[in-house]
Amino acid sequence: MTATDAATGLWDISMNPSTSPMLSEERDAILANPGFGGHFTDNMVRAKWTADKGWHDAELVAYGPLLLDPATNFIHYGQAIFEGLKAYRHAREAEKTLYLRPFMFSTEIGLGVKPADSYEYLLIASPAGAYWPKGLKPVSVWLSDDYVRAAPGGTGEAKCAGNYAASLIAQAEASQHGCDQVVWLDAAERQWIEEMGGMNLYFVYGSGDSARLVTPRLTGSLLPGITRDSLLTVAADLGMRADEGQISVEDWKAGCESGEITEVFACGTAAVITPVGEVKSRTNGSWAVADGGTGPVTSRLRQELLDIQTGEIPDHHNWLHAIC
Ligand SMILES: Cc1ncc(COP(=O)(O)O)c(C=O)c1O
Repeated sequence: MTATDAATGLWDISMNPSTSPMLSEERDAILANPGFGGHFTDNMVRAKWTADKGWHDAELVAYGPLLLDPATNFIHYGQAIFEGLKAYRHAREAEKTLYLRPFMFSTEIGLGVKPADSYEYLLIASPAGAYWPKGLKPVSVWLSDDYVRAAPGGTGEAKCAGNYAASLIAQAEASQHGCDQVVWLDAAERQWIEEMGGMNLYFVYGSGDSARLVTPRLTGSLLPGITRDSLLTVAADLGMRADEGQISVEDWKAGCESGEITEVFACGTAAVITPVGEVKSRTNGSWAVADGGTGPVTSRLRQELLDIQTGEIPDHHNWLHAIC
């Protein structure tokens, strides 16, 4: 059984690390250029949950393949969720981090569609460099007029595996049109901007001291990302007004044409902040966001967030947790 420390709520984990860790030369070569999501640490954490025992058998074990019965519930019916967070080594790293991926899936065996009564939790860790391999440059986005990712009452506000499976056809369509990413619209009216494939969006109105930020409000069908949330606070710290609101496709297009919208950027744990330079769509045409480059508000917020994450400036909000 897994004992839980009453004071901290932390699990008591059995330590059974890998007996054949990666050779240091191989590790150094990976760490010199880790990319994103392609390499994993020697060990992972796993724990089980069952309806009768709750959480138990938490252990740190060698990273390796899972042995699954072909009738394991989640393979068929998609009961799987994940998160993503980053550990920074302060004073040593610029954009190199340890990306942590906790996830959980149902392990009950059988072909009945039902909430499972057993789950497995896993935590894997991946050394990560910059998210975009070609460096920070504005992305082009494809507005998905034809497909929807999430609808009111659905699972869109969780990092639930099925949401991502449902998004891939539109992502493929975006690529066919030469775009880096898809942007989702609301399912009911197909006119309100929700979010990008794997990041939330921010719109910058005006410039200089009068720059104002708007991010799509949380409707239940978009992800309440932690980066989106942090930026509402960081913007206020920097004296910028930041609101949650509704932005339609028409607002986006007209705002860029009139110059009212000066910058648009996407945000998320993995890539931090990425400027959006160009928008394309089947029914609303194509347009550029300002000059298609990276604007000053985008750069400023990105730097501020990175500086907090890397310990270059104080964390006034107690967002950081020291782990060693
Ligand atoms: C669909 C979606 N939206 C937004 C985000 C950004 O969330 P966060 O800032 O918590 O990383 C993610 C991150 O995985 C995502 O998958």
